[in-house]
Amino acid sequence: MEYLEIEGGVPLKGEVKISGAKNATFPVLSAALLAKGKMHIGNIPRILDVEHFIEILKEIGVGVEYTDHGVMLDTRGEISSQVVQSEKHSLRGTQTLLGALIGRNGRALLPSLGGCNIGTRPIDLHLKGLKQLGVKVRWEEGYLIGETDKLRGDSIYLDFPSVGATENIIIASVLAEGDTVIENAAREPEIKNLVEFLNKLGADIKMNGSGIIKIKGVKSLKPADFDIIPDRIEAATFLIMGAITSGDLTVKNVHMHDFEPVTMKLKESGANIEILNEDSLRVRANGDLKAVNIKTLPYPGFPTDAQPQMMALLSVAEGSSVITETIFENRFRAAKELRKMGADIKVENNVAFIKGVKELTAANVSAVDLRGGASLITAALAARGTSRVMNIYHVDRGYEKIEKKLQMVGGRVVRKKDNQVL
Ligand code: UD1
Repeated sequence: MEYLEIEGGVPLKGEVKISGAKNATFPVLSAALLAKGKMHIGNIPRILDVEHFIEILKEIGVGVEYTDHGVMLDTRGEISSQVVQSEKHSLRGTQTLLGALIGRNGRALLPSLGGCNIGTRPIDLHLKGLKQLGVKVRWEEGYLIGETDKLRGDSIYLDFPSVGATENIIIASVLAEGDTVIENAAREPEIKNLVEFLNKLGADIKMNGSGIIKIKGVKSLKPADFDIIPDRIEAATFLIMGAITSGDLTVKNVHMHDFEPVTMKLKESGANIEILNEDSLRVRANGDLKAVNIKTLPYPGFPTDAQPQMMALLSVAEGSSVITETIFENRFRAAKELRKMGADIKVENNVAFIKGVKELTAANVSAVDLRGGASLITAALAARGTSRVMNIYHVDRGYEKIEKKLQMVGGRVVRKKDNQVL
């Protein structure tokens, strides 16, 4: 089992280049199935979840070649409607293949959806929307089957602005007959990126940031090259790591408005945030972090995916902080491990009460999910002594070469397996 060995207490200094967004990659690669031809998708992050997703695309018949920072897709051949159950499948990103395969073939067969164990993760809103577009849905032998003779636009109201449901409905409706309106749609930057891509392919989608998305069905789409946006959660994670280590860290290649709630909270806790230019942001801190309260919300609220990393930071911020998690019910799993490092965190239902301690001490801890793992790395970077973060594959699912990027800014981090440096 691979793990990271981290010597804490070293301020991170220098520049980190942020990779493409994991959660924008899946919907864009799925949506590409709607246009037949060759296209280059750039700024693809080289992370485990994306590699698995690309394997799945190859299995269903998409031609995929890795390029320098992206993939060349060939969607001209026959694409199978069935995604076969396998290990790779335990990623949430496959959810948008549902809308894409129905849009392309009128049929999709998907094994049950995976992803981090951060809550029950139902898909009722995806199915409600697809049913309204004319899809018949049933479960058979562990497979979710969606079928339609014809997709027809409709007005769809989402009880909650679900990211995945919004993506699936957009993807399924671009080639439907007539107009679709999604009310209370998610507004995450990843949705905007998907809409920009589909419009580049020839779709007619209007999204003005108000939570209403209007889609006029078109007859067909043409291939086009596209670049994935930078990963706002990776950027947020490095900023938090810079702040907790009293460092001086610049994140480059970012869309800073995409993670403003995180920079606002970092500022509120006493970190200095400086906009250097259009796509770089610098964080500096001097060890004087203060408690802040956080409530996770759909975009443009504070992102649930940056919450565990902030929990690590707040465990050494002076005073008492309260984190209220409103998106996923099982998102405080890193708290137990952080306590092993001396953090004072009490969790009651969806609220975490954190009393800042003077310092954390190194421990052997175990990543239990992707962002929880990032939270433990964050804490270990600040803790006195050498920590081990086990089960690092959880983190590899969503962060590209995390130890290399940390080493480049002075982090004393090595990847090991059975005591051997990798
Ligand atoms: C996506 C992201 C994930 C992020 C989350 C919220 C991907 C691959 N993953 O997940 O990293 O944390 O957005 O920003 O993009 N819900 C329902 N019914 C549904 C769908 C969702 O009740 O049909 C609930 C979920 O249980 C959860 C909430 O809505 O409580 C948010 O889920 P959603 O926005 O759909 O997140 P994902 O698309 O799964």
